[in-house]
Amino acid sequence: MPTHQSLGGASDEELLQRMVATHGERFEATFWAFFGAHVGQRLPSRPVMVDLGCGPGLFLRDLGERHPGAILYGYDVTPAMITYGRQLTFKAASATFALHDVATQPLPHAAATVHLASMSSVLHVFDEPFPTLAEIRRVLAPGGIFLLHDWVRQPLPTYLAWRRDVLQEGGAEGLRRAFRLFPVHNKYTVEDWRWLLGEAGFEILSQAELRASHRIFVATPAG
Ligand SMILES: C[S@@+](CC[C@H](N)C(=O)[O-])C[C@H]1O[C@@H](n2cnc3c(N)ncnc32)[C@H](O)[C@@H]1O
Repeated sequence: MPTHQSLGGASDEELLQRMVATHGERFEATFWAFFGAHVGQRLPSRPVMVDLGCGPGLFLRDLGERHPGAILYGYDVTPAMITYGRQLTFKAASATFALHDVATQPLPHAAATVHLASMSSVLHVFDEPFPTLAEIRRVLAPGGIFLLHDWVRQPLPTYLAWRRDVLQEGGAEGLRRAFRLFPVHNKYTVEDWRWLLGEAGFEILSQAELRASHRIFVATPAG
């Protein structure tokens, strides 16, 4: 399976640094307002939370600040991400990071034991999302939440302008990179994501556009 890194032409270290540098912009006040309104109140006082494709682990650290009784797990296929996450300081009851290929390996959790599973800008990379979605559904407790935040399809000129103006990726190399990533980031429409979640046995409780490039879905196993 092609990894996000190879498709983007960035090294693991570059991707790590980009994830760390942009974390505050991506998980900002609007995100946490949405999280508080649609997810936080549904969680028990000692929730088990897993972040799949956790990157540097900063989202889990933020979750631990807000839910100090939480038991956190972060899984990622890139060793540099797991190394970074393991050196973070956590307020949560516990935080465990493991090198794990979420696209091909079952999740190391018993059925119906997880209260929140999250995936942020990861699932679009997988060749076929259904096995991972089935694993998430298996491990979620009744009423558990799957929080999916991922890229949605944009027109080519909009996407190119965003990379040029917001990411400041100019020149011939910037354009090459933008065209290489366009089919990766613009794979699924909002309707495609909704369909995938429904087919995988999830009911969508809410969704929002917090950034023009992404859509966030709050889903739970359908009854
Ligand atoms: C764009 S980054 C997002 C990181 C983090 N979720 C965030 O939002 O900051 C995508 C992450 O998914 C990870 N990833 C890609 N394929 C994966 C797989 N098959 N299993 C686990 N992690 C994967 C990459 O290593 C990378 O850390």
